[in-house]
Amino acid sequence: MQLYNRSITDSDRFWSEQAKSLLHWSRPFERVCQGNFADGDVAWFTGGTLNAAYNCVDRHLPHRAHQTALIYEGDELGEGYSLTYHQLHARVCRVANALLSMGVRRGDVVTLYMPTSPDLACAMLACARIGATHSVVFAGFSAGALRDRLAASGSRMLLTCDVGKRGGKTLELKKIVDEAVGGTDLVHHVGVFRRDPDAAQQRSEGWEESRDVDMNELLPRMRPYCAYVSMEAEDPLFILYTSGSTGKPKGLVHTTGGYLLQAAMTTKNTFDLKDGDVFGCVADVGWITGHTYCIYGPLLLGATSVLFESTPRYPHHGRYWDLIDRHRITQFYTSPTAIRTLMKFGTDKIKEYKLDSLRVLGSVGEPINPEAWTWYFKNVGHSRCTVVDTWWQTETGGHMMAPMPGMTPLKPGSCTLPVYGVQPALLDPLTGEEIEGDDVEGLLVVKRPWPGMARTIHGDHHRYMDVYFNSYRGYYATGDGARRDENGYYWITGRVDDVVNVAGHRIGTAEVESSLASHDGVSEAAVVGFPDPSKGQGLCCYVTLNMGTPSTPEFIAELKAQVRRDIGPFATPDVIVITPDLPKTRSGKIMRRILRKLAEGEPSALGDTSTLADPSVVERLVATQFWVK
Ligand code: WTA
Repeated sequence: MQLYNRSITDSDRFWSEQAKSLLHWSRPFERVCQGNFADGDVAWFTGGTLNAAYNCVDRHLPHRAHQTALIYEGDELGEGYSLTYHQLHARVCRVANALLSMGVRRGDVVTLYMPTSPDLACAMLACARIGATHSVVFAGFSAGALRDRLAASGSRMLLTCDVGKRGGKTLELKKIVDEAVGGTDLVHHVGVFRRDPDAAQQRSEGWEESRDVDMNELLPRMRPYCAYVSMEAEDPLFILYTSGSTGKPKGLVHTTGGYLLQAAMTTKNTFDLKDGDVFGCVADVGWITGHTYCIYGPLLLGATSVLFESTPRYPHHGRYWDLIDRHRITQFYTSPTAIRTLMKFGTDKIKEYKLDSLRVLGSVGEPINPEAWTWYFKNVGHSRCTVVDTWWQTETGGHMMAPMPGMTPLKPGSCTLPVYGVQPALLDPLTGEEIEGDDVEGLLVVKRPWPGMARTIHGDHHRYMDVYFNSYRGYYATGDGARRDENGYYWITGRVDDVVNVAGHRIGTAEVESSLASHDGVSEAAVVGFPDPSKGQGLCCYVTLNMGTPSTPEFIAELKAQVRRDIGPFATPDVIVITPDLPKTRSGKIMRRILRKLAEGEPSALGDTSTLADPSVVERLVATQFWVK
């Protein structure tokens, strides 16, 4: 508590000490923090230079060269391999030299469309080593979504794998890439890591000699040392796209110094990371959790990090417990959705495995209900591990609220208190005034800059200001609502904007709507979230059809397929309701509040409907009782 208070009242000194103790600087920084939210010009550690790959790998070589850096577990049980820090260094250098040989230079954006694997880790660190900005696109995105992100980031270089494997299924990543970039001049080169040893012949199909580069052939020819570039603290480290409430996905830009510090500090404090720990974050590296807690955080601290490519239920629902047992994992980090899914199978399978290596259990991505929290604590942690519910966002870079093991008293379902240097507040949505005191609820905002915050939206600083800073001047608007209880503990209530959180995947309803509306048979679409006992939320889509379009089950299946194709399988609608009309105000605005209540199955709680242009639209929807299963 004392240190937290100091991190707020004497923040420059606090962060300066943290930055010096957790990171290696090639040149010391001159100022700790400058700028503010209202002007959108926050910068940290200016004057200082450092390199992310040096910090994650090279600096550990003198004393950890032969320690395991990465443990990779592939899709099949027990399939995989490990890399020591020495081996990781050589691989990162080879990939860095390969990128240089293909013309990538400092400041260029490199897109990585790869599954969770050491190849992806090496590609990220290789970019960082030569000062290129990586933009990882989750390997579950469709060709269209990949193309949009490539084009938006201005990336000329793409790295991918021939295939990915998940849950026994093969993802044809190179084919998706061909579909995304074929016939365009978006990229100069596509580097392909071949993972399927039997698929050498795949090279012939869709292979373009002038564009495609076989990484398995190129890498052995590369020197296993590559000089690293000293980057300014504020130089971008990566771009990561995430969904917003309107329009196109946002490419959030994270910078080198501040992001790395947030990653290192929170990994150390929230997970009580110690020498010799085996850190098991089972997130996909394609999302922010994987960036910060599979790659940067654990490697900055010289830990052993587990990369898991499969799913919690493949080949059976004991997969996580097997993983923890076999690799002697000390910190395990997963999502409430996974916990709720596994809860359904009871505890028999857990008892087959030794979980005594565990010390800390983490949860991230959505609110964790107290039942799931307690199940996790009792059955996985055997009532002796700390459960850390960590609240944060792609935008924040690292944890913003989370308990510290052994220090923060826990409450099942609460992310407890802010981490060092973070000052949250609750606002009244109508007046924008701060709500003081405890036992209150409001919009969750942050009052002061923190090092890991995203600095801009790639190519659109104006949008960055609008989304995060302009609605409530002087604050960072998180888009979440929260309650502060009688002890000052925070409880996240969920998004307050048009973003739906399905199984921990952030989905902008606007993106799903535009995919549906782009179908010839569709006139208009409105998409809302509704509570789902296992996934947290599901997607309910209201669709009006053009004249002559049949509202058959086949047509509904076709619409679902369209969304899968445009965005990715994780965004597949759960419910599609065909309706002759959408409820609108007299000025033509769709009344989503009403659609949300209907999707939740609460037609009696629609609230004020007096502004509806045509109340019969709602009456008809209520009469169909589509939510009754
Ligand atoms: C939600 C994931 C409750 C929240 C790291 C946030 C959570 C969004 C929690 C960010 C949590 C994340 N409790 N809700 N512990 N963690 N969220 O950008 O709505 O994929 O705004 O980052 O997930 O999702 P993102």
